[in-house]
Amino acid sequence: MNRVLVTGGAGFIGSHLCERLLKEGNEVICLDNYFTGSKKNVEHLLDDSNFVSIEHDVTESISFDIDQIYNFASPASVSYIHYNPIQTMKICFIGALNMLELARRKKAKILQASTSEVYGDPSVHPQVEEYWGNVNPVGVRASYDEGKRIAETLFMDYNRLYGLDIRIARIFNTYGPRMMKDGRVVSNFVIQALNNDDITIYGDGLQTRSFCYIDDLVDGLIKMMNTNKTLEYPINLGNAEEYSIKELAELIIELTNSKSKIVYKSLPKDDPRRRKPDISKAENILSWHPKVKIKEGLVKTIKYFEDILLLKGRVSF
Ligand SMILES: NC(=O)c1ccc[n+]([C@@H]2O[C@H](COP(=O)([O-])OP(=O)(O)OC[C@H]3O[C@@H](n4cnc5c(N)ncnc54)[C@H](O)[C@@H]3O)[C@@H](O)[C@H]2O)c1
Repeated sequence: MNRVLVTGGAGFIGSHLCERLLKEGNEVICLDNYFTGSKKNVEHLLDDSNFVSIEHDVTESISFDIDQIYNFASPASVSYIHYNPIQTMKICFIGALNMLELARRKKAKILQASTSEVYGDPSVHPQVEEYWGNVNPVGVRASYDEGKRIAETLFMDYNRLYGLDIRIARIFNTYGPRMMKDGRVVSNFVIQALNNDDITIYGDGLQTRSFCYIDDLVDGLIKMMNTNKTLEYPINLGNAEEYSIKELAELIIELTNSKSKIVYKSLPKDDPRRRKPDISKAENILSWHPKVKIKEGLVKTIKYFEDILLLKGRVSF
């Protein structure tokens, strides 16, 4: 049994991770300040004697004995990043620094939740880990993109200076139950479709993304943490099937049997045109490959939001 810390454990990805780690027989400490996450996401785990939930801000240091750390604390949606860019940068940098110090003192393994945003608006397609990216350092998304880039640098330097056992997961768009209503494309479209509201596409809808179902991502993260291989480089985790935003909207309308119409609005600044991971490293090194097809994953996600609709008459939070 490992003693595992999940920062951001009450968030969308963090709560699924806590659930799986507990199922696999670990002792799990969920650390969160509920900035974007919710206590409700881990409520069902509180009766488990191997689970503890702590309210704490990662920008403040903390100490306890630990074997593994998954560092997931950070807002991930553009709306929160725009709402507080300076806090976002502090969380990315100081939060990572505090968790790296904890890992160093306790000789723990540590995995960083990095992001495909480190590639910015990429000129290499699909994105391979060796590509250094095309990020606007003074743009409106820079607090998050550059924050995550500097966190990667910190992780690499702790590895080079102290020999710390690190992992860096570059996570691409992930979706599933417990996503928040925070402006991310899948939750946005599903909520709009279930409410029969207009579906808002920013831009012409021809920009592409790839969508990874949460269970596949969690599999990849746990494999990455538990491998005995030394991983002194980032690894992409995502689904390599590419869809245009318009195709996604049409599929969600079909699956929800919605009366919604698609409307187009202007594209936000620095929005990348194309996103698709090259996942050959994850496939070869971790023997990981996403299994859940987009329709299957969307049906499960829609069911989660439908339950809220049944409860409230409209999907609202
Ligand atoms: N969901 C995705 O598609 C995606 C893609 C790439 C990377 N990521 C990364 O994965 C991680 C989790 O993303 P998510 O989608 O679950 O987002 P989320 O907003 O649902 O979860 C983030 C969690 O971190 C917590 N948090 C924020 N600031 C904190 C602080 N200062 N101290 C303690 N806790 C804090 C929030 O309350 C929330 O529970 C993030 O680091 C994000 O950058 C997510």
